[in-house]
Amino acid sequence: MTVRLAHIGIAVRSIVDARVFYEEVLGLEVKKIEEIASEGVRVALLPFPGGEIELLEALDPETPVGRFLAKHGEGLHHVSFDVPDVRKAILAGIEHGVETVGEAPRRGAEGREIAFFHPLFTHGVLVEVAGPRNDAPASQPQEQN
Ligand code: CO
Repeated sequence: MTVRLAHIGIAVRSIVDARVFYEEVLGLEVKKIEEIASEGVRVALLPFPGGEIELLEALDPETPVGRFLAKHGEGLHHVSFDVPDVRKAILAGIEHGVETVGEAPRRGAEGREIAFFHPLFTHGVLVEVAGPRNDAPASQPQEQN
């Protein structure tokens, strides 16, 4: 299984405030800001060679990122890896007693299938796995043509 860093998710109180550091100091650029209503977040993506910074702003205090901010303040929220097959990763997790958080798989930014592994089972880091970019509806059988 080929795995690459997809992004580093950072919980911030305000994307407007937080982007200044990444843009003005690190020289990155916000390529996209997207609201993911189902996750209760606004996301800003700042790509760099080999990965992206994903700034996460809660749309409401009663969301996973809102609760994270209330409990921990701003900071590293999750690390995301590109995997060829999210479902396969979930199954490998199950095999090793590694539990996911929330619905798995589900739809994340850019129409990608994602899943989160709970930090209790990953040595303290919320780990996201993200499948290939896909704006089409959920997985279709491959022998369809
Ligand atoms: Co993410």
